Amino acid sequence: DLKELINKLRDTQTLSKNEWIRLIDGRTPELADYLFENAREVQITHYGHDVYVRGLIEFTNYCRNDCYYCGIRKSNLNAHRYRLTKEEILNCCKTGYELGFRTFVLQGGEDGWFTVPRLADIVSDIHKNWPDCAITLSVGEMEHDAYQTLFDAGADRYLLRHETYNDAHYRKLHPASLSARHRQNCLWDLKSIGYQIGTGFMVGAPFQTTENLADDMLFLKELNPHMVGIGPFIPHHDTQFASEPAGTLELTLYLLGLIRLMLPKVLLPATTALGTISPTGREQGILAGANVVMPNLSPTEVRKDYLLYDNKICTGDESAQCKNCLAQRMESVGYHVVVDRGDSLNV
Ligand code: 5AD
Ligand code: FES
Repeated sequence: DLKELINKLRDTQTLSKNEWIRLIDGRTPELADYLFENAREVQITHYGHDVYVRGLIEFTNYCRNDCYYCGIRKSNLNAHRYRLTKEEILNCCKTGYELGFRTFVLQGGEDGWFTVPRLADIVSDIHKNWPDCAITLSVGEMEHDAYQTLFDAGADRYLLRHETYNDAHYRKLHPASLSARHRQNCLWDLKSIGYQIGTGFMVGAPFQTTENLADDMLFLKELNPHMVGIGPFIPHHDTQFASEPAGTLELTLYLLGLIRLMLPKVLLPATTALGTISPTGREQGILAGANVVMPNLSPTEVRKDYLLYDNKICTGDESAQCKNCLAQRMESVGYHVVVDRGDSLNV
């Protein structure tokens, strides 16, 4: 009985690969409700009704990589490229601090213009100006020493989704120059340096099987990251996956609940992609066990250009609007956005 498997997961935080496959393939609306009740209870035990916010600054959409699913892949000649200046980035932080953000996430493509010294300089300025804030980087794969330099400059956290654990699946989503193993090694490096790390994957990515998802769950368990970001795959019109179906709200919510039970103290964002496939996706994500939201702090002028997938929400809004909109959405389901760095309890 699959309810028993959910109880087992809740009580032991571990399942075998076969059990993961059964639990994912055998899901029903009734089972999902049972899962979400349990996931909410665990979430409230550790984090109460608090929801942490991170201010997302999308500072460059130049990228040397060519991930087949991504709208800012280098071979998309229709993408209008931009880079924020250091001053623009610092201004985003200033606005964000005034709005109550205590974590800044600098996310960008793998842009060679932002060398390690340039990034380190920006990080150390943010660190000096807002010493009570956490600085999160999300700029892709680098060598150990580069990660170390950025850590020493003041970066606290790093987001790098593993995308998919299975090597054959990874190769169907990326050109041959990239490998699942290298990406995983980056995560182990980041963790050993002392970063709080976030990883994750897209739900419903092309060619994804239940077995792939089971492997992803086992990898998450082994890596034991501080944060796990999952969101539905959404096609981008200028990619070879333009006519692939998007991942579903239903499966994304179910996986959020499972991750909450497997890693009770992990930080779990209700992502922008979830808000894009359903108008109440992020609220439903919170009710499935998520406890983080990441409103956009990028200047409004560049938002429409950081288009990883089609129909992305918030591209016309000001930072303050996004922050307020999310605060209200969280209140509508009985949760509260807090002014806090929001460090992970999963240490
Ligand atoms: N749909 C959903 N998520 C995407 N990402 C990239 N392209 C897409 C897409 N088409 C996700 C990847 C990446 C993160 C920054 O955005 O998982 O790690
Ligand atoms: Fe950006 Fe709602 S979160 S407008």
